[in-house]
Amino acid sequence: MRHFLTLKDFTKDEILEIIALSQKIKEESLKSKSIRYMDGKILGMIFEKSSTRTRVSFEAGIYQLGGVGMFLSNKDIQLGRGEPMKDTARVITRMVDMVMIRTFEHEKIEEFAKYSKVPVINGLTDEYHPVQLMADYLTMCEHGKGKDSKVAFVGDGNNMANSWLMLASKMGFELRIATPKGYEVDSEVAALAEDYAKESGAKIVYTNSIKEACLGVDVISTDVWASMGKEDEQKRRERDFQGFMVDMDTLKLAKEDAIFMHCLPAHRGEEVSEEVLEGEASVVFDEAENRLHAQKGIMVWLDREREKECKVGE
Ligand code: CP
Ligand code: NVA
Repeated sequence: MRHFLTLKDFTKDEILEIIALSQKIKEESLKSKSIRYMDGKILGMIFEKSSTRTRVSFEAGIYQLGGVGMFLSNKDIQLGRGEPMKDTARVITRMVDMVMIRTFEHEKIEEFAKYSKVPVINGLTDEYHPVQLMADYLTMCEHGKGKDSKVAFVGDGNNMANSWLMLASKMGFELRIATPKGYEVDSEVAALAEDYAKESGAKIVYTNSIKEACLGVDVISTDVWASMGKEDEQKRRERDFQGFMVDMDTLKLAKEDAIFMHCLPAHRGEEVSEEVLEGEASVVFDEAENRLHAQKGIMVWLDREREKECKVGE
């Protein structure tokens, strides 16, 4: 059974196929021709962390596809009181058609998927945020920044940096990651990306210099300094990340028509200046809207794969 846990599990062609499907569904819905691709299907949405975009885009998306979204906060379900993931998976997936999970350790979603009877989608873990990167790639393409683009990711070597690495190394574009010393990406993820890059021709550069990363790029992307679960490190990170704010001077290093991306929520005055976030180069709200369209593509693609498997099993 196909799940959507990280981009590791997808070929370049499959990523392009899902992006094309997302674009088609987006065009249809913008022409008010919403097709009920997932009529009557139920999406369970488990949240162990807060969310605005992921919650709203998945819930709105499944309704628009003709299905129903069921919001399951860990404050309300027994998971939050210690019921194991594997038991939660075996109960919930007998009753719904697809599950989206936002949680902490990536192993938790892998365990859920192992016991699941239905496709599982990663709505963010400490290690990866793949649905965000599908929306980001869709946004890049819409702004004329396709596979030949150079992208700089500035900031923490976190779930967003890891996911940019997976996208770039699968699709074959140049990615430069600038982190402060001590906040580099995980070496295992970097090794994986290196393997994929050999096949795709991607160029991956790691640096501690924001200038080196941003010089002549087409896209600058950043993320918060302290991710969810790291709030108690906020003060230390504010000190360690000095010089890592994307401001107008940083933007000037990039190409003239470069775009600025951020998965949001943004902390103005920390990882990005108000001027950049609200400026002409910023595409952050297109990016946020594309969460809806990209995820509709992902859900429909997974649902079709599942139907194919069910037919084979008949
Ligand atoms: N970018 C993103 O995943 O936002 P939320 O945390 O609001 O879902
Ligand atoms: N790195 C951030 C992304 C939020 C969408 C976090 O994990 O909190």
